[in-house]
Amino acid sequence: MARGRLFIAVTTVGVALTALALGLRAEDAKGGGLVGAQTCATCHEDTVKAFQAGEHGTAMAARSSDMLNKACEGCHGPGAAHANDPSKTNINRIPKQDACIACHPKAEALMALNLPAHPRNGVVCLDCHTPGHTPAPAKPLLAAAPAVLCAKCHGDIAAAFKLPFAHRQGDKPFDCTACHTVHGENRTGRLREWKNGACLECHLDKGGPFIYPHPPRNANGCLQCHTPHGSTNPKMLTRSRVADLCLECHMGVPSFHNISNPKFRACQTCHIAIHGSNHDPNLKDD
Ligand code: HEC
Ligand code: HEC
Ligand code: HEC
Ligand code: HEC
Ligand code: HEC
Ligand code: HEC
Ligand code: HEC
Ligand code: HEC
Ligand code: HEC
Ligand code: HEC
Repeated sequence: MARGRLFIAVTTVGVALTALALGLRAEDAKGGGLVGAQTCATCHEDTVKAFQAGEHGTAMAARSSDMLNKACEGCHGPGAAHANDPSKTNINRIPKQDACIACHPKAEALMALNLPAHPRNGVVCLDCHTPGHTPAPAKPLLAAAPAVLCAKCHGDIAAAFKLPFAHRQGDKPFDCTACHTVHGENRTGRLREWKNGACLECHLDKGGPFIYPHPPRNANGCLQCHTPHGSTNPKMLTRSRVADLCLECHMGVPSFHNISNPKFRACQTCHIAIHGSNHDPNLKDD
C-alpha cells in the first residue's frame, strides 16, 4: 500500500517537471512563443498584480520567480502573437485542463485514483477551482465553500442534510469534505470500498475492538444500518422501525420474543450494546 502511494508520488513529480519544462518551451503556431508576465502587464496590469499577490501567485513564487513569470502563459498559452496584435482569437481565454495537469499531475492522478467518477463524467479542475486572478471564496482556490461547491452538482445529497436526522452542526450541514476527499490518497472519495474508516475517524467508540462484536459492523460496515448523509429515521437508520431492521437479518429470534408486542419491537432497549459488547454475547450490556 505505502509503496503504491510512493510510486505515484515519485513518478508524478517527475512528470511534472518534464511536462512543465516542455510545455513552457513549446512555441505554437497561434501563440508564437513566450513573452513573460511583464509584457502581459503592459496591457493587463491589474490582472497581473492581482494574480501575483494572490494565493496561486505566491504559491508559484515560492517555487521559483521564473515559474511565476511564465504562469500567465502556462495557462493561457504562449502569448507573443497576442501581445503584438491583441485579439481574442490568438489567446486561449479558458485554459484546457491539460494546462493545470502540466504543473499538477499528482492532483490529477490522485483524483483519478480516489474519485474516478469525476474524470469519467467530465468534471474538470475549473469546475471546482478558480484560477487565482481574484481571491478565491474558499481554500485551496475553491470556487465556493465545500458544502456549496459540491451541492452545485449533488443537490440531492445536500438536501439530505436538511432531513430531520442528519449530520449537522445546528443549522450548518457537515462539509462534504469531512468524509470525502477529492484528491485523497486513502480513497475516501469512494467510501463504498473504504467501509467504516470515514465513520470511525469521529465515532471511534463504535469501532471496538469488542470481545463480542456485532458482526455486521465488520462484514459490511456502518452502512448496513445507517445512512451517511441524512434520513427521516431516528439515528439515521436505514429503516424507520428498528425491529424491521433487525429482523432483516435475524429471522429466528428466541420464542419468548413476542414480536407482536410493542415492547419487543424496540430491540435496542434490551440489546443496548448494539455496536458490540465486552460483557454480554447477547449485546445487552456494554
Ligand atoms: C498590447 C496589449 C496587450 C498585451 C501585451 C497582452 N494583452 Fe491580452 N488582451 C489585450 C486586449 C486589448 C484584449 C481584449 C481583446 C478583445 O476584446 O478583443 C486582451 C484580451 C486577453 C484575454 C481575454 C481573451 C478573451 O477571449 O476574452 C486574455 C486571456 C489575455 N488577453 C491574456 C493575455 C496574456 C496572458 C498576455 C501576456 C502573455 C497578454 N494578454 C498580453 C491586450 C494585450
Ligand atoms: C491557473 C490558470 C491561469 C493563470 C495562471 C492565469 N489565468 Fe487568466 N484566466 C484563467 C481563466 C480560467 C480565466 C477565465 C475567467 C476566470 O475564471 O476568471 C482567465 C481569464 C483571464 C482574462 C480575461 C478577463 C477576465 O478576467 O475574465 C485575462 C485578461 C487573463 N486571464 C489574463 C491573465 C494574466 C495576465 C495572467 C498572468 C498574471 C493570467 N491570466 C494567469 C486562468 C489563468
Ligand atoms: C505554471 C505552473 C502551474 C499551473 C499552470 C497551474 N498551477 Fe496550480 N499551483 C502551482 C504551484 C507551484 C502551486 C503551489 C503548490 C505546489 O507546489 O504544488 C500551485 C497551487 C495550486 C493549488 C493549491 C493552492 C493552495 O493554497 O494550496 C490549487 C488548488 C491549484 N494550484 C490549482 C490549479 C488549477 C486548477 C490550475 C489550472 C487552471 C493550475 N493550478 C495551474 C503551479 C501551477
Ligand atoms: C470536485 C471538485 C474538485 C475537482 C474537480 C478538482 N479539485 Fe482540486 N481540490 C478540491 C478540494 C475540495 C480540495 C481540498 C482537498 C481535498 O478535498 O482533497 C482540493 C485541493 C487541491 C489542491 C491542493 C493540494 C492538495 O492535494 O490538497 C490542488 C493542487 C488541486 N486541488 C488541484 C486540482 C487540479 C489540478 C484539478 C484537475 C486535475 C483538480 N484539483 C480538480 C476540489 C476539486
Ligand atoms: C461539476 C459537477 C460536480 C461537482 C462540483 C462535484 N461533483 Fe461529485 N460527481 C459529479 C458527477 C457527474 C458524478 C458521477 C455521477 C454521480 O455519481 O452522481 C459525481 C460523483 C461523485 C461521487 C460518487 C463516486 C462514486 O464512485 O460513486 C462522490 C462521492 C462525489 N461526486 C463527491 C463530490 C464532492 C465531495 C464534491 C465537492 C468537493 C463534488 N462531488 C463536486 C459531479 C460533480
Ligand atoms: C458523515 C460522512 C459523510 C458526509 C459528511 C458526506 N458523505 Fe457522501 N457518502 C458517505 C458515505 C459513507 C457514502 C457511501 C454510501 C454508500 O455506499 O451507500 C457516501 C456516498 C456519497 C455519494 C455516492 C453515493 C450516493 O449516495 O449517491 C455521493 C455522490 C456523495 N456521498 C456526495 C456527498 C456530498 C455532496 C456531500 C456534502 C453535501 C457528502 N457526500 C457528505 C459519507 C459522507
Ligand atoms: C467529522 C466527524 C464525523 C464523521 C466523519 C462521522 N460522524 Fe456521525 N456524528 C458526528 C457528530 C458530531 C454527531 C452529532 C453528535 C451529537 O449531536 O451528539 C454525529 C452523529 C451521528 C449519529 C447520530 C444521529 C442522531 O440522530 O442522533 C449517527 C447514527 C452517526 N453520526 C453515524 C455516522 C456514520 C454512519 C458515519 C460514517 C458514514 C459518521 N457518522 C461519520 C460526527 C461525525
Ligand atoms: C446492526 C446495525 C448497526 C450497525 C452495523 C451500526 N449501528 Fe450505529 N446504531 C444502530 C442502532 C439500532 C442505533 C440506535 C440505538 C438507540 O437508539 O439506542 C445506533 C446508534 C448509533 C449512534 C448514535 C447513538 C450513540 O450511541 O452515539 C451512532 C453515532 C452510531 N450508531 C454510529 C455507528 C457507526 C460509526 C457504525 C459503524 C462502525 C455503526 N453505528 C454501525 C445500529 C447499528
Ligand atoms: C446485516 C445483518 C444484521 C442486522 C441488520 C442486525 N444483525 Fe444482529 N447479528 C448479525 C449477525 C451475522 C450476528 C452473528 C450471528 C452469529 O454469530 O451466529 C448477529 C448477532 C446478534 C446478537 C448476538 C446474539 C447472536 O445471535 O449471536 C444479537 C443480540 C443481535 N445480533 C441483535 C440485533 C439487533 C437488536 C439488531 C437491530 C438493531 C440487529 N442485530 C441487526 C447480523 C445482523
Ligand atoms: C425485553 C428485552 C428484549 C427485547 C425488547 C428484545 N430482546 Fe432479544 N434477547 C433478550 C434476552 C434476555 C436474550 C437472551 C436470551 C438467552 O440468554 O437465551 C435475547 C436474545 C436475543 C438474540 C440471541 C438469540 C440466540 O439464539 O442467541 C437475538 C438474535 C435477539 N435477542 C434479537 C432481538 C431482536 C431482533 C429484537 C427486536 C425485534 C429483540 N431481540 C428484542 C431480550 C430482549
